[in-house]
Amino acid sequence: MSATNLPGGCTSSPNGVSSTKVTMPALAEMKRQGKLISSLTAYDYATARLVDEAGIDMILVGDSLAMVVLGQANTLAVTMDEMLHHTRAVSRAVHRALVVADMPFGSYHGMVAEGVANAIRFVKEAGAEAVKIEGPRVDLVRALTEAEIPVVGHLGLTPQSVHRMGGFRVQGRSVDAALQLKTAALALAEAGAGALVLEGVPRETAAAITAELPVPTIGIGAGPNCDGQILVLHDLVGLSFTPAAKFVRRYADAGALIRSAVEHYREDVEHRAFPSDEESYHLPEAARKTLDAQENAGTLRKV
Ligand code: KIV
Repeated sequence: MSATNLPGGCTSSPNGVSSTKVTMPALAEMKRQGKLISSLTAYDYATARLVDEAGIDMILVGDSLAMVVLGQANTLAVTMDEMLHHTRAVSRAVHRALVVADMPFGSYHGMVAEGVANAIRFVKEAGAEAVKIEGPRVDLVRALTEAEIPVVGHLGLTPQSVHRMGGFRVQGRSVDAALQLKTAALALAEAGAGALVLEGVPRETAAAITAELPVPTIGIGAGPNCDGQILVLHDLVGLSFTPAAKFVRRYADAGALIRSAVEHYREDVEHRAFPSDEESYHLPEAARKTLDAQENAGTLRKV
């Protein structure tokens, strides 16, 4: 692949971001060339457009939508139908980034064939360009790859395993656990995974895996040595209501902005300061005069 096929290759948009479509092979090429991969979640048309236009390489329709959009306590209850619905909205908005759909809990935990059938729905019905699955499911990754569906693996703190882990806990903290994670990562890459999310693992563990893996690692709470980073959009812009994890950096306080805008609107409505005359539609001059004349003659009141 030539450098101009890379997301960072030819630049043409006002913010200096390449307009070249990001694909799964392009992410691998970025790793080879030492270009860091930016990734964020998005769950709807408006935010997906903003994230795409800002030049983010990979957009994940994460099952974190269960928590940050639907207000659930963890990611377990979100359904295939809900994930498909949100993936469709994101796909409609995105032109450049790679769109990855997160497969929800229960949609790939049984038979491999069922996992493949559900993944096909994301591609066929919702426009996803890849799917993400949690855990060392090597057979499923191989089957998805054979079915021409690019796969992103996800190891470390895998939120769908919250009950097995006994909470959202950092993983891979001992030498043994770190080596186990590396073995699993290599097996997923060997089976065809095109990239790997590493969540909630010590920086050193993530660095060791990143150094050996032929495909990019995308870290979240995994330190700066990964090939890319991902965050939940709502955490980044201050729209989440739970205490932020140690690894979250809040770049904006959209929550405060929206709250203040809404309070201002409420006050304006209560004081008849909104809408103004300029924000109102008007009758044509002649119709207005007729209406005024009728009103003056009391016609309207009789009607
Ligand atoms: O669902 C999600 O948002 C994720 C990211 C945290 C990687 O899986």
